[in-house]
Amino acid sequence: ALARPQSSAARGLWSSRWVFFLAATGSAVGLGNIWKFPYITGENGGGAFVLVYLACILTIGIPLLMAEVMIGRAGRQNPAGSVARLAALAGASAHWRKVGWLGAFTGFLILSFYVVIAGWALAYVPATLGGAFSGADAAASTAQFDALLADPLRLVLYGSAVLAVTMLIVGLGVRDGLERALRFMMPGLFLLLLGMVGYAAIAGDFARGAAFLFVPDFSKLSAEGFLLALGHAFFTLSLGCGAMMAYGSYLPKGVSIAKTSLLVALADTTVALLAGLAIFPLVFANGLEPGAGPGLIFVTLPIAFGQMPLGQVFGGLFFVMLVLAAVTSTISLSEPGIAWLNERFGVSRTRAVLLTGAVLWLMSLASVFSFNHWADYQLFGHTFFDSMDYLTANWLMPLGGLGTVLFTGWVLQKEAVREAIGIAQPGWFNAWWNLLRYGTPVAITLVFLNLIGVL
Ligand code: PFF
Ligand code: NA
Repeated sequence: ALARPQSSAARGLWSSRWVFFLAATGSAVGLGNIWKFPYITGENGGGAFVLVYLACILTIGIPLLMAEVMIGRAGRQNPAGSVARLAALAGASAHWRKVGWLGAFTGFLILSFYVVIAGWALAYVPATLGGAFSGADAAASTAQFDALLADPLRLVLYGSAVLAVTMLIVGLGVRDGLERALRFMMPGLFLLLLGMVGYAAIAGDFARGAAFLFVPDFSKLSAEGFLLALGHAFFTLSLGCGAMMAYGSYLPKGVSIAKTSLLVALADTTVALLAGLAIFPLVFANGLEPGAGPGLIFVTLPIAFGQMPLGQVFGGLFFVMLVLAAVTSTISLSEPGIAWLNERFGVSRTRAVLLTGAVLWLMSLASVFSFNHWADYQLFGHTFFDSMDYLTANWLMPLGGLGTVLFTGWVLQKEAVREAIGIAQPGWFNAWWNLLRYGTPVAITLVFLNLIGVL
């Protein structure tokens, strides 16, 4: 059933709880699960890292996810607008809206490099399908990856294609664009991933891959691995940049935020673990190195695809799947900013999309060039691309998350929050409320102190 818009006339609502679940899961599931999670797990020794990451999802990620969705639904606007509206209701300063600005800004910075990596995946679709990796060994596969990075034109073309598709879908608006795209993207993604795990179970060293993921060896986990796990919990659940607030603002009243958030986190975690189960058995069966870094899926997987029967098809499908997962995330990354321009300044969605798309395209060029023309221009040993990744994941997302939990736990009134979140059982509400007020801000602050070297 189609719900009626409840506030400002032009705003739509998700047509069902299921569609919201698809959209939020689409935002959460992306390059973070399939590209980043396996390689940082590989770099940090496997099972122990996974265990800490799961603990972070449970104690920090899920409470914050619930808070963001709640703020969106209660405010019924873009993130900055929603926060400002709730602040006004609580008699607090309008300055809190800056939490929303920060989120939209962070989302744009992430987008500028995220579309470039998604472009790698898109470039790998024709390459893998066309048999570019047939029989390739490590050196040949590395050479192909390096050749892609060295070719600005290819990177720009594929990155721009991802950006254009994102902007097209966002420009069509919530019901017409996002929903229609998500309805077939998400189920397709799950099916393809399950197929890949099935293939890995048949053709890969499944026992060793699973043991690597699930048997914790804490001697392999450094203090830094702890922090990476926390940062990745933010990134993977799309927290601290307004995406979940923006999506929450289209959520019909009466849907359980707690249950839906739990399901989203469960789906995101499942996809990450399935990606690990699809990738590591292949890595081990082919004598490859789990700690190979960001190139893990782009260098090592094609070797496996090049050696297995039907590898061209499986490889092509895998990268199609990765592009789909990335696009459902880039859509949510741009929504806070687009909705803000639209609702705050009356810019039409189409114009907002064209405007931000142009700015983003220019920013993405800087990321593209940091792999070739500008590879030598480094700030503190980081290229532009590295710096964006570092700045957003380690500083801006946790900062946005901290602002959100402080706003929810210390500015909004407890009874107003109780009503907005809709958790009926007092025990569960208080558990969430106290975790949000104390546990989450303390944990985020510890990360900051560690990053600046105090801890
Ligand atoms: N959660 C996405 C992923 O795991 O790839 C990345 C992301 C999407 C981060 C949307 C932030 C965001 F707002
Ligand atoms: Na994710």
